[in-house]
Amino acid sequence: MAIASLQGLVQILAESLSEPPDGFIIEHHTAGGHNAGPQGPMKLDELGQPIYSELDEPDLQAIRGIGIPFWLAGGYGNHEKIQLALSHGATGVQVGSVFALAEESGMKPAYRTAILNEIKKGTDDDALVRTTLFSPTGFPFKVAQLDGTLADDTVYQTRTRLCDIGLLQQRGLSKPDENGKRRLFHRCSAAPVESFVKKRGLPHNTESRRCLCNGLMSTVGLGQIKNQVEEPAIVTLGNHLDSIRRLSHQGQHPYWVSDVVQDLLGD
Ligand SMILES: Cc1cc2nc3c(=O)[nH]c(=O)nc-3n(C[C@H](O)[C@H](O)[C@H](O)COP(=O)(O)O)c2cc1C
Repeated sequence: MAIASLQGLVQILAESLSEPPDGFIIEHHTAGGHNAGPQGPMKLDELGQPIYSELDEPDLQAIRGIGIPFWLAGGYGNHEKIQLALSHGATGVQVGSVFALAEESGMKPAYRTAILNEIKKGTDDDALVRTTLFSPTGFPFKVAQLDGTLADDTVYQTRTRLCDIGLLQQRGLSKPDENGKRRLFHRCSAAPVESFVKKRGLPHNTESRRCLCNGLMSTVGLGQIKNQVEEPAIVTLGNHLDSIRRLSHQGQHPYWVSDVVQDLLGD
C-alpha cells in the first residue's frame, strides 16, 4: 500500500515499471500524524500552520479511473463518511484518531485522559490540534496542544537537543576533503544545531524542530529516562474529533474499540 494525497502521485506509482502498489491510502491533510505539504509555495497562517487550498483536494474520480483499490483517510472515522468514501469508489477507509483514544490504545492513559478533559472543557478542534512544522522530516505534523508535552514551547526549550534514536535521520554526502573523498553522514534537524550545520544543514531548518522519536516513545509509555527525567511526549491526533466527542459523550466517558467499530458500521 502506498500513502498518497493526490492523483498525480497515484498515477506515477501505478505506472511504476518495477511493481505498482497493491493499493493506495489517499490521506487528507486533516489526518493524524504526518501530512503532505500544501501544493505550491508554503504559506503559513497566523498560528504558523500551513495553509491548504482546493489544490490539495484529491480528484477521486481520476483516482478511481486508475483502477487500483484505494482507501480514504483523514476525517473518515464515522458511518456517514464511510458511505461517502464507498460512493466515490473507495474500497474502504483508514481510521486513526478515534482508535487512538480508545481504551485499548497504546497511547499512555494520561494523554488520552488529558485530551478527553480538553473536550469536556469545551476546547474546540482547532485549538486542540494544530498542524505544525515541528517534524525533522520537514513534513507538516499534527500535534495535540497538551501542557507538559513538546507542544509546549517551554518544555521544548528546556529539553537538551539530542538525537539518540535516529529513525528520522536524513543521509547525505559531505563536501570532498583535500583528497577528494566524500563521507556519508546522518543528520537530524532536531539534533544539536552545531552538529546539523556541520553536516551541511541550514540553521533555519532546525528552528522549532522537535524530537519525534523520543517524543512518540514517551507517548506510548516507553520514553527514555535521562538524569531521572523522562523525555517529553508529543501527542498526535487528526483535525476531525467529532467521533471522539460523540463516543466519549463530550469527553466524559472512556470508550472501547468495539464501540468504534459498531459506530463505524452504523449498528
Ligand atoms: C496517534 C496516531 C499515530 C499515527 N501514526 C502513523 C504512522 O506511524 N504512520 C502512518 O503512516 N500514519 C500514522 N497515522 C495516520 C493514520 O494511519 C491514519 O491515516 C489517519 O489517522 C487517518 O485520519 P484520522 O486521524 O482523521 O482518522 C497516525 C495517526 C494517529 C492518530
